[in-house]
Amino acid sequence: MTPPSEHHGWRAYAEASPLGPTARWLLPLTSVVLTGLIFVADTITDYEIAAATFYVIVVLLASRFCGMRALLGVAGACIALTLLSYFLTHDGNFHTGIVNTAISILAISAVAWLAVRSGQAQARANVAQAQLARVTRITTLGGMGAAIAHEVNQPLAAIVANASACRRWLAASPPRLERIAATVGDIADDANRASAIIARVRSLMSNAAPRRQFADVNDTIRQAAALMEPQLRARSIDLHLLAGADIPEIMIDPVQIQQVMLNLLVNASEAIDHTRGEIAIETRLIQNRVVVTVADNGHGLTPQQLAAMFEPFHSTKEGGMGMGLAICRSIIEAHGGIIEADAREHGLVVTISLPLAHGGNG
Ligand SMILES: Nc1ncnc2c1ncn2[C@@H]1O[C@H](COP(=O)(O)OP(=O)(O)O)[C@@H](O)[C@H]1O
Ligand SMILES: [Mg+2]
Repeated sequence: MTPPSEHHGWRAYAEASPLGPTARWLLPLTSVVLTGLIFVADTITDYEIAAATFYVIVVLLASRFCGMRALLGVAGACIALTLLSYFLTHDGNFHTGIVNTAISILAISAVAWLAVRSGQAQARANVAQAQLARVTRITTLGGMGAAIAHEVNQPLAAIVANASACRRWLAASPPRLERIAATVGDIADDANRASAIIARVRSLMSNAAPRRQFADVNDTIRQAAALMEPQLRARSIDLHLLAGADIPEIMIDPVQIQQVMLNLLVNASEAIDHTRGEIAIETRLIQNRVVVTVADNGHGLTPQQLAAMFEPFHSTKEGGMGMGLAICRSIIEAHGGIIEADAREHGLVVTISLPLAHGGNG
């Protein structure tokens, strides 16, 4: 198992960027052009003009798409160019030139140091957040353990029954080969069903680093819903999925989005304390966003509770951790999306809107 990676640098920038592959090069290109302009300006102007201080902008831009080592390289290159300009410049007061060059080098170094420090802090925060998300994911799955075990047990029981039927048909004379052939197909289907459930649970438990890919939102939601189904069935809650047509694949981390859906479904089912429970998930394409709503007919919330529900550690449940929705919000916002909740006459509706990735699946 790999630990959550300290994502930073070009890969993290490229993954998080909603821009297409061409537009993504805009920032590096701007930095290079700016460096050239600053170098020319610094060289052709007098010693009195400290144009080299503008290299701090290049360092700040580079911190958006460079890893830490590359950032130090950029800062080093800026310092080298500052010194080169100093030797190439011949006009103005020589002593002012030395002081200005020293100030520029100090400014570049200070900004690079601060950028590296903030990059390190961000990387540590990312690791902590990924770990917290995993812990709560496992906690959620832990609560679903009995239902999942039941769900895996069903196909296994069917396999055992079918296998013993096959043994009887084999022993018959003549052996009933056509029935055996059909039943072996059922056995394979049941085995695949059980292993698909286990695979879904494993992917949610895994310690893999967050990973964005183009994925179908409807499929992703279906997989989370499939995991919740036994638990909802046990409580006679009907789950409807109205999957919008023509929703293009978007850049998401499917495991994280499943986690969001699981949290919302668990909350919805916990809010339902009567026998006619219903949860409706709907996905739609609205302008350039994929909008997912999860509506339940549970006890709903007062306006004050509604305002606080996304706050970390806010829970109205006995033994509730109050982290579910806070994590949902951080995941959705990391995807450039918005999550909000509204009370209805009976129950609550949570709306998620995710931007479509631009620039195709390059
Ligand atoms: N579907 C819902 N219906 C009513 N209240 C809800 C719903 N979802 C969340 N809440 C409220 O928001 C609070 C915070 O939810 P969450 O962050 O998942 O923490 P927890 O489930 O551990 O309490 C819940 O305690 C509950 O009061
Ligand atoms: Mg919850």
